[in-house]
Amino acid sequence: KRIREARCSSTEAAAAALKEQQASSSEEVPAPKTDTRKKTFSEVLAERLEQAQRTVLIDCPSKINEKKFLKYMSSHGNIKNHFFYESYGTYAVVEFSEKDSIASLQGVTGNPQFKDECPVPFVSRIFTLTLKNPPSQASNQTPVHCHRLSTVPLGELIRKLCDANSVSDQLHMLTEEYQLTEENTKLRFLTCSLIQDIAGAYFPNCTMKPFGSSVNTFGKLGCDLDMFLDLDEIGKSTTRRKTGPFNLEYKMKRVPSERIATQRILYVIGEFIDNFGPGCVGVQKILNARCPLVRFSHQPSGFQCDLTANNRIAMRSSELLYIYGSLDPRVRALVFSVRCWARAHGITSSIPGSWITNFSLTMMVLFFLQKKTPPIIPALDHLKELADVQDKQVIEGHDCTFVSDLNKIQPTGNTQSLDVLLGDFFEYFGNFAFNKYSLNIRKGKEQGKPETSPLHIQNPFEQSLNISKNVNAMQLERFVSLARESAWILQQDKGPSSTSGQPWGMAALLPALTANNASKGARKKRRTASERIKGLLDSLKINNPSNGGKPFST
Ligand code: GTP
Ligand code: MG
Repeated sequence: KRIREARCSSTEAAAAALKEQQASSSEEVPAPKTDTRKKTFSEVLAERLEQAQRTVLIDCPSKINEKKFLKYMSSHGNIKNHFFYESYGTYAVVEFSEKDSIASLQGVTGNPQFKDECPVPFVSRIFTLTLKNPPSQASNQTPVHCHRLSTVPLGELIRKLCDANSVSDQLHMLTEEYQLTEENTKLRFLTCSLIQDIAGAYFPNCTMKPFGSSVNTFGKLGCDLDMFLDLDEIGKSTTRRKTGPFNLEYKMKRVPSERIATQRILYVIGEFIDNFGPGCVGVQKILNARCPLVRFSHQPSGFQCDLTANNRIAMRSSELLYIYGSLDPRVRALVFSVRCWARAHGITSSIPGSWITNFSLTMMVLFFLQKKTPPIIPALDHLKELADVQDKQVIEGHDCTFVSDLNKIQPTGNTQSLDVLLGDFFEYFGNFAFNKYSLNIRKGKEQGKPETSPLHIQNPFEQSLNISKNVNAMQLERFVSLARESAWILQQDKGPSSTSGQPWGMAALLPALTANNASKGARKKRRTASERIKGLLDSLKINNPSNGGKPFST
């Protein structure tokens, strides 16, 4: 069993099993077994969604006696976890041990009174807490420690990176700085759960699940919150009788297609969010996109939200990325660093257009890692071979089957350091024959391009589609020339021992103002900003109007 574990599980699990084996071979008492099994995507999701349902959000005064606040809240039940953060005011996230505590809290909550306006009486899990007697209570209050929800500024990141010992350290450091924190993840699931309460007013058994970078292990602080309204459990009664003389079905309204049903559902939920959703502003219903969505800003959490429905393939893509991101620590470090590099140079943008998206860029990094000898991550077809019967999934006629148990995937034998991989990445794509080949994640190989788009990355599930169809030739050229330049900079790099005080390694690839090269940096920054604007304008000119929408134009 030990040997099997060592072979099949993750790198850490293998190391733990090896330690245990060594301990027993030298006749020492083996250490107690810890559970090193990595959780599946569905397990993580289910755990966090349940946690979010026991959680409330409280708009508090910025100065508050934390102890008294917790004592007050715990009169409704045991508090398992709490933290504070700032977003249009100070908020507390309070997780109770039991869901019932929320009903108890709601039982003592009143409606707000406004002078010239009227409240919409929608009861939610977002509350406002005020001091009963502010002047006399103010002296006991202290500012609470607020959790940071955004990344450090680029200049500060660069300074930090310069203190690292190697490029590899720099990439891990960057990942640490940029990745979603435990608190941020909790807030994302809570926000989904709050929106689920709204959708639940129409569809009591629905689930609102986060997908995309909030859950795929590649989320950066500040990234948008992609939500998927799952209505699939509705009507799947487990007690449905298979025998007997009758069949019983719900009487339901009919519409000509699933797309129209999705559009109508999103339209109505979008209206509800707009009219009654506490803290939801700027609601846009983008129902004619390939994947219809409702976009809005959730002010209490500060998240920009994209709500979609009937979007199972994107959920499956998120799980696939979760698997790749969990297999080897180098994967996330390289993806985070390449994404940061691309954003800093205006290769990617938060505005939809003809530039490379984060999703495409992530796929490019994964493809590069599949192409290494030996591969650092397996091709999707290999993950399909490892799948069990319960992993089988065909969505809208597309085979989306792959293994869900991470522990079944053998760790790679490739030990190349990130110092090497970063330079290789830029060199590889700086010289890739984009005019001839398409990137195929399913096979882990390039293949002839089926159509003429400048960049072709095959959609791993809807295989006739290109996920980077929106990218125009100019944006691809910018990527290629920056990749070449970065490969060259890394080749010349003297490393941390350089005495010039100049940014080195990853820090030298990021265009920001630093103390030592302020004037050079300022010139470079000015140039980058004007280049970026030029790029934006050119892209708008060339942009194909059919692919401007995000997400899922392809
Ligand atoms: P961020 O930029 O950090 O938000 O990355 P993201 O991965 O969340 O990307 P985005 O919010 O644009 O899209 C959310 C998810 O939708 C992605 O993770 C993919 O699963 C899917 N998606 C996005 N763009 C495309 C696309 O062009 N084609 C397809 N098939 N799926 C896409
Ligand atoms: Mg996203």
